[in-house]
Amino acid sequence: MHNLETPAFIIKKEILDNSIHSLKLSLSKHFPNSILSYSLKTNSLPYILKNIKENDGYAEVVSSDEYELAKLVGFEIKNIVYNGPLKSKLTFLEAIRSRAIVNIETKQEIDWLSELPKDDVYSIGIRINIDLDILAPEDAKQNEGYSRFGFSPENDELETALQKISKYSNIKLAGLHAHRTTLSRAVKTYEEIAKYIGDLAHKHSLELEYVDIGGGFYGIMEGKPTFNDYFSAISKGLSSYFDLEHITVIVEPGNAIVASAIDFVSQVIDVKKIQDFYTITTDGSRNDLDPFYRKQNYFYSIYPDDSYSSKSPSVPLQIISGGTCLEYDKIFEIKDSRLLQVGDKILYKSVGAYTMTLSPLFIRYFPNVYLLDEDKSYSLIRKKWSATDFFDIYKTTK
Ligand SMILES: Cc1ncc(COP(=O)(O)O)c(C=O)c1O
Repeated sequence: MHNLETPAFIIKKEILDNSIHSLKLSLSKHFPNSILSYSLKTNSLPYILKNIKENDGYAEVVSSDEYELAKLVGFEIKNIVYNGPLKSKLTFLEAIRSRAIVNIETKQEIDWLSELPKDDVYSIGIRINIDLDILAPEDAKQNEGYSRFGFSPENDELETALQKISKYSNIKLAGLHAHRTTLSRAVKTYEEIAKYIGDLAHKHSLELEYVDIGGGFYGIMEGKPTFNDYFSAISKGLSSYFDLEHITVIVEPGNAIVASAIDFVSQVIDVKKIQDFYTITTDGSRNDLDPFYRKQNYFYSIYPDDSYSSKSPSVPLQIISGGTCLEYDKIFEIKDSRLLQVGDKILYKSVGAYTMTLSPLFIRYFPNVYLLDEDKSYSLIRKKWSATDFFDIYKTTK
């Protein structure tokens, strides 16, 4: 830890591997046929993607860029789940022809289906809109009861889409896709969503080959629902409608795989007194840790510098801040504790989900990424971006 160049993310191999294996094990316990399809957007570091691939996982992508990235990592197209509104026509058609799992999200995709060859039959899925105000109002985040995504079964949008799809003699509607991240990630909500999917399949006489439940699960965390809790509820919800022997259950975890597998370390670079408190400037930023600026608290540990002075006084209030020029780049407060000093390191735990992919290139470029191996050794798996790396991207433009 003391030799790491800060700021840096640290991938903890043992925890990452354990999350993937536990999730796979739990899936196989509850479903005769299942697919773990990792959500690339949550953290698309190629090291993680390769690990998923080596463990027979699929790549869940939501744009043509993510689709191309999955291919570069080496995922076979048939092992890609292609979702979201940002598909290009070219990659959409290529994916369907190459037998990827493609879930329709936009109306133009339904029109694009007309360009597929007529001498073969192709499978697609469609995303349904999940309105938590109807299914589980208590588990809806504020102002997020309804969802912007998928085709609504509550008006005629889904019905119309299904009718249009049924007009193509070379297209088989093979799957329904549903994804919601809810307020409390409650197990009960997954059972409700599973039943809702079953109801719809029944109502529209759909002969499904797969049901894609999306992500939104907690990872391995004390006091939180386990993978077994989630999958047993989903299995219960689905089995009233489907013979699970004849249907594949797809899950798209992101947070559950990476959140607790990644830490972030930064270093104190300045200590100043302002009014009657101290502002502690670090070389990290809240942009690295909490790109939405919503977190109330962090799991953290402090590693005093080697030259640690036990004479450092205890002070009532320290505000730990990032090193950017943003006034609001404040991270957390420490009360009634030893005054931090330059060189002290702060390790923020479990910050792997939606941090690296959402971090802007603001002031300082992408930081180092280290791998912490099972034998406790560190290796650099991504060198921090330099100004040259940034400049090189723009070289060919005017
Ligand atoms: C379609 C889809 N699948 C899966 C996920 C992953 O969700 P989580 O990271 O909460 O597991 C998301 C996240 O937004 C998503 O939009």
